[in-house]
Amino acid sequence: MAFEPDAEFAAAANAGVALYDSATADRLEFWAEQARRLHWEQPWSQVLDWSDAPVAKWFVDGKLNVAYNCVDRHVLDGYGDQVAIHWEGEPGDSRDLTYSELLAEVSRAANYFTELGLRAGDRVAIYMPMVPEAIISMLACARLGLTHSVVFAGFSPTALRQRCDDAGARLVITTDGQWRRGTAAPLKAAVDEALGGTPSSVEHVLVVRRTGIDVPWTEGRDLWWHDTVTDASPDHQAQAFDAEHPLFILYTSGTTGKPKGILHTTGGYLTQASYTHHNVFDHKAGQDVYWCTADIGWVTGHSYIVYGPLSNRTTQVVYEGTPNSPDEHRHFQIIEKYGVTIYYTAPTLVRTFMKWGKEIPAAHDLSSLRLLGSVGEPINPEAWRWYREVIGGNRTPIVDTWWQTETGAIMISPLPGVTATKPGAAMAALPGISAKVVDDDGAVLDNGSGLLVLDEPWPSMLRGIWGDMDRFRETYWDRFASQGWYFAGDGAKLDEDGDLWVLGRVDDVMNVSGHRISTAEVESALVGHSGVAEAAVVGATDATTGQAIVAFVILTAEATNTGEQLVAELKAEVSRAISPIARPREIHVVPELPKTRSGKIMRRLLRDVAEGRELGDTSTLVDPKVFEAIAKS
Ligand code: PRX
Repeated sequence: MAFEPDAEFAAAANAGVALYDSATADRLEFWAEQARRLHWEQPWSQVLDWSDAPVAKWFVDGKLNVAYNCVDRHVLDGYGDQVAIHWEGEPGDSRDLTYSELLAEVSRAANYFTELGLRAGDRVAIYMPMVPEAIISMLACARLGLTHSVVFAGFSPTALRQRCDDAGARLVITTDGQWRRGTAAPLKAAVDEALGGTPSSVEHVLVVRRTGIDVPWTEGRDLWWHDTVTDASPDHQAQAFDAEHPLFILYTSGTTGKPKGILHTTGGYLTQASYTHHNVFDHKAGQDVYWCTADIGWVTGHSYIVYGPLSNRTTQVVYEGTPNSPDEHRHFQIIEKYGVTIYYTAPTLVRTFMKWGKEIPAAHDLSSLRLLGSVGEPINPEAWRWYREVIGGNRTPIVDTWWQTETGAIMISPLPGVTATKPGAAMAALPGISAKVVDDDGAVLDNGSGLLVLDEPWPSMLRGIWGDMDRFRETYWDRFASQGWYFAGDGAKLDEDGDLWVLGRVDDVMNVSGHRISTAEVESALVGHSGVAEAAVVGATDATTGQAIVAFVILTAEATNTGEQLVAELKAEVSRAISPIARPREIHVVPELPKTRSGKIMRRLLRDVAEGRELGDTSTLVDPKVFEAIAKS
């Protein structure tokens, strides 16, 4: 059953059918029209230059400043007193920042970064929890043309070091510690650990005091934010940068162990982040209170907390903590407190809310909500219905938004007020975007399941993998090289009405609570333990997290521990090497791994084991008997 748009909602919606019509009539002019929603210092001479495909140039010769677009222009237009950020700290403290205050803070940071000798093109790593200074830092970088690389504050020192080295970061911005369920956990200490040992490109570590815990200090290298940025001048003149100037690098998991530094640039990225935020969330400046629950460590935080919303003069909630701190009411209390109208979260959280029970949201007035969004993984129809009924009061449209770190902004989604939605379906490519479902040979399907490809360049597309353009071509473009299509790595289905359903990854990338983790990354962390000779990791279906990590390991002769103690050690090792989000749900010690004659591990069969299914076809195995041994373990 499809949910038709509500007539009243449709009448006032930002988007209309006309948006599809104008994009179809002239796609490039459509994008030029969207780009004109921004302030350009210098207009472009050409909308798209695709002559160097797959590296696109959008809005050629155009110049703009991202921070000016996100902050200054709203103040200049007379909205300086509008709240930009209602910040909620985890322990219960809060802080409101108006656009004028945000401008002053961003200017101070920009002035101080300049004093530190940072210049346009330099890289800055941001390793911070969800505090206002994280957003201020990102905007200050954007203002100066510094390329930021935000590293999720749940990542390990090893992961941080790898990302700082790869990007050649000159500055790391962090906090003394971070609040997690009422306890202050050290964070600056993780930076020290990351930078200790061998010399790195990092010259300074700028530290925001958040929890007040003691921190180790390296004189000359470490700087307190409150001794430096806070004293800098709140006046700063933004300078415009080329539309293709690098805005940020964001590392994401690929099919090999080494994360990919996805590169995004300025003009096209901001155009699409802003356009999608305006239309997909039906955002109305000065009226809506918007809340995206992502962390700035992920692309959702970049595009739908920082750049999209702020470019549209949004008033938004930013929350530092977890949904169950101090208890399971927290999100609903926040919605009630600020009168949140638009709420954007991940299916894994919706399923967690379902588990906690509907009495919890029912104890709160959620009537301010008028639109709900979903992102990060396929949303199962049951969760979709629950979300609409229990959180959305049977009233709100739901936008299931498909996109990736690589796409920079939403690509496939219903348009609220326009699209009749089906629970679980992302429905259709947005106006201006072209997506197809194709078979293995590249034949375009008009119904049935296949691979998801994007067959036209789009403004916020990645411009490469930092430092590895060969990998960029191999990963995304070689699969359908003759057609020139971008291969997303996802499977998709077109139903009998031609509506699109995203089915999930078709490669060795797992999706745990909406976080992308590669099997290879976890395997290499496991074999990093002296007791493990070989490891194979699969993503098994999990009722709450979408997928959960299940590992199979073969021990070395030196393995001293076995049994539960070893399993606990290995889980801890993965958390330490990557992040607690990569911690396997199960680890099975097995005598052998199922391999094909060419030596490839048959993950499909391991997935069958992990999900407790009958085994699929085992005929290509070297030794079909290995499963008897695995089953016994
Ligand atoms: O498999 C798809 C899934 O998340 C992947 C992208 O992950 P990441 O780069 O971390 O970005 C997540 C936030 C944009 C995709 O390849 N995915 C994302 N959104 C959806 C989704 N799968 C199904 N439906 C979605 N709405």
